[in-house]
Amino acid sequence: MQALSSVERGYDLLAPKFDHTPFRTPDGVLDATAIALRPLGPFGRGLDVCCGTGAGMRTLEPLCRERITGVDFSAGMLARARDSHPNAGWVQADVRALPFAGAFDLAVTFGALGHLLPAERPAVFAGVHRALRSGGLFAFPVGGPQPIASIGYWTALGFDAAMRVRNAVWRPPFVMYYRTCPLSALQDDLKAVGFTVTTLPLACLGRRSDGSPRHRLVLARKG
Ligand SMILES: C[S@@+](CC[C@H](N)C(=O)[O-])C[C@H]1O[C@@H](n2cnc3c(N)ncnc32)[C@H](O)[C@@H]1O
Repeated sequence: MQALSSVERGYDLLAPKFDHTPFRTPDGVLDATAIALRPLGPFGRGLDVCCGTGAGMRTLEPLCRERITGVDFSAGMLARARDSHPNAGWVQADVRALPFAGAFDLAVTFGALGHLLPAERPAVFAGVHRALRSGGLFAFPVGGPQPIASIGYWTALGFDAAMRVRNAVWRPPFVMYYRTCPLSALQDDLKAVGFTVTTLPLACLGRRSDGSPRHRLVLARKG
């Protein structure tokens, strides 16, 4: 049922079980992000973009001294998030039109960029830029490129191909693609809306046999 729904309705349906699926960002990634961000903090107010059931609160809570907020368009996911983190703020909104201005010192996002078509990313990144105070930081982990000889490479290729066929023959579309967010394209889109962009290796998440990090943390600073 989820696969035949829109993204929003699909997540409403999945919400009760979401925390037991592989789609929920693992604690190891959330903690590695918090560890990498700690020397850049502490931060004031924090925002989790596409917060789902609130996994990103694990990263924001130790870093932010003021209120932390999650934004997502799925009412079902937000209801779960509210249950497990009653003291955080929860906002239902489409991140392609974020309703914040100059309100946050740190924004993060986990596991959601594949839900945005490349043409939609500039509006999302511009909304995050607008949501941050001057000097604020937008940070998110990205997986390094998969070697062509790996199972992960072919799994992602196969998943995206199946999704493109599904979306060609079925309405509403379910937008989720693994291979539409290469680091270089993300960096270009962030720079285009005014961020200064650097990256850090998330060394504690491991390295590939060629020595490259499996994950990097993108750090986009609002000037
Ligand atoms: C894979 S889940 C990730 C949830 C959480 N960040 C995590 O890491 O566990 C993706 C989330 O993005 C949300 N989402 C996707 N597109 C969205 C949009 N355009 N506006 C708001 N939320 C969106 C979905 O509702 C879902 O909760």
